[in-house]
Amino acid sequence: MTALSRAYNIDDLRLAAKRRLPRGIFEYVDRGTEGETSLKDNRAAFERIRFLPRVLGETATRSLGTTLFGKTQLLPMAIAPMSPSGLLWHEGELALARAAAAMGIPYTSPTESMTALERVAGAGGRLWFQLYVWKDRRHALALLDRVDRAGYEALILTVDTATIPNREFNSRNGFAMPIRPSLRAGLDVLRHPRWLFGVLGRYVAQDGLPQTANHPEGYRNAIFAEPPDDATRIAPDTTWDDVREIRRRWKKPLIVKGILRAEDARKAVELGCEGIVVSNHGARNFDSAIASIDALPAIADAVGDRATVLLDSGIRRGSDIAKAVALGAKAVLVGRAALYGLAVGGEAGARHALKLLASELDKTLGFAGCANLGQLDRGLLVKR
Ligand code: GLV
Repeated sequence: MTALSRAYNIDDLRLAAKRRLPRGIFEYVDRGTEGETSLKDNRAAFERIRFLPRVLGETATRSLGTTLFGKTQLLPMAIAPMSPSGLLWHEGELALARAAAAMGIPYTSPTESMTALERVAGAGGRLWFQLYVWKDRRHALALLDRVDRAGYEALILTVDTATIPNREFNSRNGFAMPIRPSLRAGLDVLRHPRWLFGVLGRYVAQDGLPQTANHPEGYRNAIFAEPPDDATRIAPDTTWDDVREIRRRWKKPLIVKGILRAEDARKAVELGCEGIVVSNHGARNFDSAIASIDALPAIADAVGDRATVLLDSGIRRGSDIAKAVALGAKAVLVGRAALYGLAVGGEAGARHALKLLASELDKTLGFAGCANLGQLDRGLLVKR
């Protein structure tokens, strides 16, 4: 039996990923920030919500299909933007994009990708791009133009990173970015030869240590080095003016990610954004932030049908997706769940993770008494 066929759920994939990855990298992906209150609450909040199922409905044939930004797809999911993907698997971004394409869902290519956005575009499938506003706006806007030229169909602007999060465990592991070589990190890597040869070794054999590939020439930073310049760091002074400017230049769907307040969602819609991602950044940024699923109903009410509401943070089961849809999300972004699969089996592993979630979602619909996602509503839920 392979590690994938032994993985019956996302938690199994997580444990298999933990065995394969150096601890520093696993924790970089898996953990939260500070006391990890928000990380625990993202799960607890989903668990507080329960179904009050309807029985004996016409549910023998079920559909998980939805329409996002005018395009139909078979599942209410997209892959979240995740910068460390390329560290979990050699060219992990391409593997994720291919897995998403195989499942007919969008893949979000991150600004901090280790595979250039043009190469990711070559992987096929539906592509979104996640943008961080860089300190030097000229570089950020030039990146935006490249994204447009490469044919990406939507832009996700991340707006929840006003300061650098306090991920104490990364520092403890010697894996705070940029990674500082340490004896501890070195031994950690040596204890994981499959990762050393299968991931890092393949990069080194190809063209050296992996680098942030979307940065302009001269600004790429190897993960083991200090960035050469401040200009392409995330701008701490990102404001609504940046949203206005990006809206002016980007003619395709614009989605803002990292919204937890209804008034911010309303403002984004007023500025012409077509999508909102209700997200606390997978509990990786602000440890005192509300769980995304708890923030969702007020935002869905504020936005109505003026924009598409998506949700991420804490999705580990198909039933979580059903809860998000019942509370007003059109779809979810799958983050760590896909990364655990990627770490275990590359494209096949990520596909396995998505299939697990899809199968659980299908069973949830059946048990809840729904033939399709449109039948999921708040009346089916109770909060403990
Ligand atoms: C970056 O956005 C991260 O969460 O590590």
